[in-house]
Amino acid sequence: MKFAVFSAKSYDRDTLGLAARNAGHEAVFFAHHLNALTAASAKGFAAVCAFVNDQIDKPCLAALQEAGVRVIALRCAGFNQVDLRAAGQLGIAVCRVPAYSPEAVAELTVALMLTLARKIHKSYLRVREGNFSLEGLVGMNLHGKTVGLIGTGRIGICAATILRGFGCKLLAYDVQENPEAKALGARYVALNALLAESDIVTLHCPLTPATHHLIGAEAVRTMKPGAMFINTSRGAIVDAQALIEALKNGRLGAVGLDVYEEESDLFFEDLSDQILQDDVFAQLLTFPNVVITGHQGFFTIEALQAIAEVTCANLTEFEKRGICNNAVSESMLAGPAKGAVKS
Ligand code: NAI
Repeated sequence: MKFAVFSAKSYDRDTLGLAARNAGHEAVFFAHHLNALTAASAKGFAAVCAFVNDQIDKPCLAALQEAGVRVIALRCAGFNQVDLRAAGQLGIAVCRVPAYSPEAVAELTVALMLTLARKIHKSYLRVREGNFSLEGLVGMNLHGKTVGLIGTGRIGICAATILRGFGCKLLAYDVQENPEAKALGARYVALNALLAESDIVTLHCPLTPATHHLIGAEAVRTMKPGAMFINTSRGAIVDAQALIEALKNGRLGAVGLDVYEEESDLFFEDLSDQILQDDVFAQLLTFPNVVITGHQGFFTIEALQAIAEVTCANLTEFEKRGICNNAVSESMLAGPAKGAVKS
């Protein structure tokens, strides 16, 4: 089947182009994002392929339907960018790649922890300048630290597996306990207990109405003084302003982010010759104990190949049977209320 790929980069052309040819599909690449204004460029395609910062809201979906699109194949795990209720009402199927390489995201998560724990971002720059002083670079061991995992699905379990290898103690919070986490030695506790007892808190739950700003001012106040906070999940699970306040008053000791609530205006583009207009993001960049990467958790060759193959398999399935194995629907967004306590 012929499908339109939005927000396409060179690496998408390489991996999706090859996977599409191997699966007997034809991929046509558009560099622009998919949104209500650009949806008309899908005219003539029964399928579109979209990414994390495409804005697939109701007007966009209506325009896609008008253009003749019957299926949206997301080349990512998260699906918060789609108005699933509107998609269902308009009869447009939505599918995703639920697990391509949870290891890739878990490894970046731990890379952020190690960078901050050992101040590698600072020492890298110092050594390049010929400054070999160790003043101010005292780090901390991960060994023996308590790490709190919020979300113990595929990525959370991979992170737990790595962290257990470092000799960390594991606490977990999830709306659904995972026996694999318990087998790794994680102890499920209420969210507040996890925040209060963890030296490092790391987010691995999806962005849903229940998790929007799950980490806000109150949650940050509950954290251990000097705790490290890592988010490689979705930006809007965290209130960035609350992080800034906690960094300013020293409540948080370090912050590592691969995602940011307003990242759609920034990430995946080279803006190096432009003036940064996002004051919150600009302020985050000023802290010496903050490391930000531009949503690259998924970005390994293994993950890109898996994403491309599963995306094409999803389209093959839809072409043959009219449904996708990896379909997403509105019911998947339901969950307990924000901050619900579970032991
Ligand atoms: P998963 O579906 O395997 O696991 C998510 C876990 O979160 C589940 O155990 C679920 O029960 C739990 N959860 C759901 N609602 C919750 C709530 N209200 N409170 C606490 N836990 C809750 O998903 P996976 O594959 O582990 O991915 C997690 C997230 O990581 C994705 O939703 C996506 O947003 C993000 N991600 C980020 C990437 C990056 O490049 N930085 C790449 C891929 C995923």
